[in-house]
Amino acid sequence: MLVAGNWKMNLDLPAARQLTANVVTSIGKTVHTKVAICPPFVDLDATFNLLHGSEIRLGAQNMHELDSGAYTGEISAAMLKSVGCHYVILGHSERREYFGETNELIARKAQQAQKYRLIPIVCVGEMLAQRDGDRQNAVVEEQVRQSLQGISIASGSELVLAYEPVWAIGTGRTASPDQVEEMHTHIRSLLIELFGQKMGYAIDILYGGSVKSSNASELFARSNVDGGLIGGAALNAEDFASIVKSAESAAAA
Ligand code: 13P
Repeated sequence: MLVAGNWKMNLDLPAARQLTANVVTSIGKTVHTKVAICPPFVDLDATFNLLHGSEIRLGAQNMHELDSGAYTGEISAAMLKSVGCHYVILGHSERREYFGETNELIARKAQQAQKYRLIPIVCVGEMLAQRDGDRQNAVVEEQVRQSLQGISIASGSELVLAYEPVWAIGTGRTASPDQVEEMHTHIRSLLIELFGQKMGYAIDILYGGSVKSSNASELFARSNVDGGLIGGAALNAEDFASIVKSAESAAAA
Protein backbone atom coordinates (compact mmCIF):
# COMPACT_ATOMS: atom_id res chain seq x y z
CA MET A 1 0.00 0.00 0.00
CA LEU A 2 1.05 3.55 -0.75
CA VAL A 3 -0.78 6.67 0.38
CA ALA A 4 0.49 9.91 -1.12
CA GLY A 5 -0.77 13.40 -0.39
CA ASN A 6 -0.85 15.81 -3.33
CA TRP A 7 -0.94 19.27 -1.80
CA LYS A 8 -1.37 20.94 -5.21
CA MET A 9 -0.93 24.75 -5.14
CA ASN A 10 -1.67 25.08 -1.44
CA LEU A 11 0.31 26.13 1.64
CA ASP A 12 3.07 28.70 1.89
CA LEU A 13 6.26 27.81 3.72
CA PRO A 14 5.08 28.34 7.32
CA ALA A 15 1.85 26.45 6.63
CA ALA A 16 3.71 23.62 4.89
CA ARG A 17 6.07 23.28 7.85
CA GLN A 18 3.14 23.16 10.24
CA LEU A 19 1.26 20.52 8.25
CA THR A 20 4.37 18.37 7.81
CA ALA A 21 5.07 18.44 11.54
CA ASN A 22 1.44 17.50 12.23
CA VAL A 23 1.50 14.70 9.65
CA VAL A 24 4.67 13.23 11.17
CA THR A 25 3.10 13.26 14.63
CA SER A 26 -0.30 11.95 13.51
CA ILE A 27 0.94 9.08 11.37
CA GLY A 28 3.78 7.61 13.39
CA LYS A 29 5.08 4.25 12.25
CA THR A 30 3.36 2.16 9.59
CA VAL A 31 3.95 -1.51 8.92
CA HIS A 32 2.29 -2.22 5.57
CA THR A 33 1.92 1.24 4.10
CA LYS A 34 4.37 3.59 2.44
CA VAL A 35 3.41 7.23 2.98
CA ALA A 36 4.44 10.26 0.94
CA ILE A 37 3.67 13.95 0.87
CA CYS A 38 4.00 16.03 -2.29
CA PRO A 39 4.20 19.74 -1.37
CA PRO A 40 4.77 22.64 -3.80
CA PHE A 41 8.36 23.03 -5.02
CA VAL A 42 9.26 25.91 -2.70
CA ASP A 43 8.26 23.87 0.35
CA LEU A 44 10.25 20.73 -0.53
CA ASP A 45 13.55 21.52 1.14
CA ALA A 46 12.03 22.59 4.44
CA THR A 47 9.55 19.73 4.56
CA PHE A 48 12.29 17.20 3.81
CA ASN A 49 14.19 18.38 6.86
CA LEU A 50 11.09 17.93 9.01
CA LEU A 51 10.63 14.37 7.71
CA HIS A 52 14.05 13.40 9.01
CA GLY A 53 13.70 10.41 11.31
CA SER A 54 10.28 9.49 9.96
CA GLU A 55 9.60 7.00 7.17
CA ILE A 56 7.39 9.42 5.29
CA ARG A 57 8.81 10.13 1.88
CA LEU A 58 8.84 13.28 -0.18
CA GLY A 59 7.46 13.72 -3.68
CA ALA A 60 7.16 16.59 -6.15
CA GLN A 61 4.11 17.40 -8.25
CA ASN A 62 5.77 17.91 -11.62
CA MET A 63 9.16 18.08 -13.30
CA HIS A 64 10.80 19.10 -16.56
CA GLU A 65 11.85 16.42 -19.03
CA LEU A 66 15.37 17.74 -19.69
CA ASP A 67 18.52 17.87 -17.57
CA SER A 68 19.10 21.63 -17.34
CA GLY A 69 19.26 24.79 -19.41
CA ALA A 70 17.36 27.86 -20.50
CA TYR A 71 13.84 26.81 -19.47
CA THR A 72 12.70 29.69 -17.31
CA GLY A 73 10.47 28.66 -14.46
CA GLU A 74 11.11 24.93 -14.75
CA ILE A 75 12.47 22.41 -12.25
CA SER A 76 14.74 19.49 -13.15
CA ALA A 77 14.96 15.93 -11.86
CA ALA A 78 18.41 16.60 -10.39
CA MET A 79 16.98 19.55 -8.42
CA LEU A 80 14.25 17.34 -7.01
CA LYS A 81 16.79 14.70 -6.03
CA SER A 82 18.94 17.32 -4.33
CA VAL A 83 16.11 18.32 -1.97
CA GLY A 84 15.29 14.75 -1.03
CA CYS A 85 12.48 13.76 -3.38
CA HIS A 86 11.75 10.07 -3.76
CA TYR A 87 8.66 10.35 -5.96
CA VAL A 88 7.40 12.71 -8.63
CA ILE A 89 3.76 12.96 -9.74
CA LEU A 90 3.59 13.13 -13.54
CA GLY A 91 0.70 13.76 -15.91
CA HIS A 92 -1.81 14.78 -13.29
CA SER A 93 -5.10 15.61 -15.01
CA GLU A 94 -4.67 19.23 -13.94
CA ARG A 95 -1.33 19.29 -15.82
CA ARG A 96 -2.96 17.65 -18.83
CA GLU A 97 -5.97 19.96 -18.79
CA TYR A 98 -4.54 23.37 -17.84
CA PHE A 99 -0.95 23.07 -19.06
CA GLY A 100 -1.45 21.05 -22.21
CA GLU A 101 0.60 18.03 -21.15
CA THR A 102 0.31 15.17 -23.60
CA ASN A 103 0.94 11.46 -23.14
CA GLU A 104 4.08 11.85 -25.22
CA LEU A 105 5.45 14.59 -22.93
CA ILE A 106 4.53 12.60 -19.84
CA ALA A 107 6.45 9.61 -21.22
CA ARG A 108 9.53 11.79 -21.68
CA LYS A 109 9.19 13.07 -18.13
CA ALA A 110 8.77 9.54 -16.80
CA GLN A 111 11.93 8.42 -18.61
CA GLN A 112 13.76 11.42 -17.18
CA ALA A 113 12.54 10.63 -13.66
CA GLN A 114 13.82 7.10 -13.99
CA LYS A 115 17.19 8.32 -15.23
CA TYR A 116 17.52 10.17 -11.92
CA ARG A 117 16.07 7.34 -9.85
CA LEU A 118 12.93 9.24 -8.96
CA ILE A 119 9.85 7.03 -8.85
CA PRO A 120 7.23 8.44 -11.21
CA ILE A 121 3.60 8.39 -10.10
CA VAL A 122 2.01 8.45 -13.54
CA CYS A 123 -1.58 9.69 -13.51
CA VAL A 124 -4.33 8.63 -15.88
CA GLY A 125 -8.10 9.11 -15.88
CA GLU A 126 -11.05 9.89 -18.08
CA MET A 127 -13.19 13.03 -18.25
CA LEU A 128 -16.90 12.95 -17.39
CA ALA A 129 -18.05 13.03 -21.03
CA GLN A 130 -15.82 10.06 -21.79
CA ARG A 131 -17.29 8.07 -18.91
CA ASP A 132 -20.80 9.07 -19.92
CA GLY A 133 -19.98 7.80 -23.41
CA ASP A 134 -18.65 4.54 -21.91
CA ARG A 135 -15.24 5.25 -23.39
CA GLN A 136 -13.29 5.23 -20.10
CA ASN A 137 -11.48 1.95 -20.72
CA ALA A 138 -10.23 2.97 -24.16
CA VAL A 139 -9.19 6.43 -22.95
CA VAL A 140 -7.26 5.14 -19.95
CA GLU A 141 -5.70 2.33 -22.00
CA GLU A 142 -4.32 4.84 -24.48
CA GLN A 143 -3.02 7.03 -21.64
CA VAL A 144 -1.31 4.07 -19.96
CA ARG A 145 0.30 2.77 -23.15
CA GLN A 146 1.46 6.15 -24.42
CA SER A 147 2.51 7.68 -21.09
CA LEU A 148 4.68 4.63 -20.38
CA GLN A 149 6.37 4.55 -23.80
CA GLY A 150 10.06 3.85 -23.42
CA ILE A 151 9.80 2.94 -19.74
CA SER A 152 11.50 -0.22 -18.58
CA ILE A 153 11.75 -1.28 -14.98
CA ALA A 154 13.80 -3.82 -13.08
CA SER A 155 11.25 -4.12 -10.28
CA GLY A 156 7.62 -3.22 -9.70
CA SER A 157 8.60 -0.70 -7.05
CA GLU A 158 10.21 1.59 -9.67
CA LEU A 159 6.87 2.77 -11.03
CA VAL A 160 3.50 3.82 -9.60
CA LEU A 161 0.26 4.38 -11.51
CA ALA A 162 -2.58 6.54 -10.26
CA TYR A 163 -6.11 6.29 -11.64
CA GLU A 164 -7.85 9.60 -11.12
CA PRO A 165 -11.13 10.01 -12.97
CA VAL A 166 -11.33 13.75 -13.68
CA TRP A 167 -15.00 13.94 -12.66
CA ALA A 168 -14.12 12.68 -9.17
CA ILE A 169 -11.30 15.15 -8.44
CA GLY A 170 -12.16 17.86 -5.97
CA THR A 171 -15.85 17.34 -6.64
CA GLY A 172 -16.78 15.28 -3.61
CA ARG A 173 -18.07 12.70 -6.09
CA THR A 174 -15.99 9.57 -5.54
CA ALA A 175 -15.98 6.78 -8.08
CA SER A 176 -17.72 3.75 -6.62
CA PRO A 177 -15.52 0.90 -5.37
CA ASP A 178 -16.87 -1.22 -8.26
CA GLN A 179 -15.95 1.42 -10.84
CA VAL A 180 -12.50 1.78 -9.30
CA GLU A 181 -11.81 -1.94 -9.11
CA GLU A 182 -12.99 -2.44 -12.69
CA MET A 183 -10.59 0.20 -13.99
CA HIS A 184 -7.72 -0.94 -11.80
CA THR A 185 -8.18 -4.49 -13.08
CA HIS A 186 -7.97 -3.14 -16.62
CA ILE A 187 -4.82 -1.17 -15.78
CA ARG A 188 -3.35 -4.23 -14.05
CA SER A 189 -3.79 -6.33 -17.17
CA LEU A 190 -2.08 -3.63 -19.26
CA LEU A 191 0.84 -3.47 -16.81
CA ILE A 192 1.20 -7.25 -16.96
CA GLU A 193 1.22 -7.08 -20.74
CA LEU A 194 3.84 -4.29 -20.73
CA PHE A 195 6.11 -5.46 -17.91
CA GLY A 196 5.34 -9.13 -17.38
CA GLN A 197 3.42 -11.00 -14.74
CA LYS A 198 5.72 -10.46 -11.76
CA MET A 199 6.30 -6.74 -12.16
CA GLY A 200 2.81 -6.07 -13.44
CA TYR A 201 1.38 -7.37 -10.18
CA ALA A 202 3.97 -5.57 -8.07
CA ILE A 203 3.32 -2.05 -9.42
CA ASP A 204 1.14 -0.04 -7.04
CA ILE A 205 -2.03 1.29 -8.65
CA LEU A 206 -3.43 4.16 -6.58
CA TYR A 207 -6.91 5.60 -6.75
CA GLY A 208 -7.39 9.36 -6.51
CA GLY A 209 -10.53 11.48 -6.53
CA SER A 210 -12.32 12.68 -3.39
CA VAL A 211 -10.79 10.02 -1.16
CA LYS A 212 -11.75 10.83 2.43
CA SER A 213 -11.46 9.12 5.77
CA SER A 214 -15.10 8.02 5.36
CA ASN A 215 -14.64 6.18 2.04
CA ALA A 216 -10.98 5.08 2.08
CA SER A 217 -11.62 1.69 3.71
CA GLU A 218 -14.10 0.46 1.11
CA LEU A 219 -11.82 1.58 -1.73
CA PHE A 220 -8.66 0.07 -0.27
CA ALA A 221 -10.47 -3.21 0.40
CA ARG A 222 -10.52 -3.93 -3.35
CA SER A 223 -7.80 -6.26 -4.53
CA ASN A 224 -6.32 -4.10 -7.27
CA VAL A 225 -6.39 -0.88 -5.25
CA ASP A 226 -2.93 -0.47 -3.74
CA GLY A 227 -3.50 2.86 -2.03
CA GLY A 228 -4.52 6.40 -2.78
CA LEU A 229 -3.41 9.74 -4.16
CA ILE A 230 -5.10 12.20 -1.86
CA GLY A 231 -5.83 15.85 -2.62
CA GLY A 232 -8.04 17.89 -0.31
CA ALA A 233 -8.00 15.42 2.59
CA ALA A 234 -4.18 15.46 2.61
CA LEU A 235 -4.28 19.10 3.75
CA ASN A 236 -5.54 18.03 7.17
CA ALA A 237 -3.16 15.88 9.22
CA GLU A 238 -5.88 13.97 11.09
CA ASP A 239 -7.81 13.18 7.91
CA PHE A 240 -4.66 12.09 6.11
CA ALA A 241 -3.60 9.94 9.07
CA SER A 242 -7.01 8.33 9.16
CA ILE A 243 -6.71 7.43 5.45
CA VAL A 244 -3.27 5.93 6.12
CA LYS A 245 -4.81 3.90 8.93
CA SER A 246 -7.44 2.55 6.51
CA ALA A 247 -4.63 1.45 4.18
CA GLU A 248 -2.87 -0.29 7.07
CA SER A 249 -6.06 -2.16 8.00
CA ALA A 250 -6.75 -3.13 4.40
CA ALA A 251 -3.22 -4.45 3.96
CA ALA A 252 -3.40 -6.44 7.18
CA ALA A 253 -6.76 -8.01 6.28
P1 13P B 1 -9.10 15.37 -4.29
O1 13P B 1 -8.75 14.29 -3.28
O2 13P B 1 -9.12 16.73 -3.70
O3 13P B 1 -10.34 15.02 -5.05
O4 13P B 1 -7.89 15.39 -5.35
C1 13P B 1 -7.46 14.20 -5.92
C2 13P B 1 -6.23 14.46 -6.67
O5 13P B 1 -6.24 15.11 -7.70
C3 13P B 1 -4.95 13.94 -6.14
O6 13P B 1 -3.93 14.06 -7.04
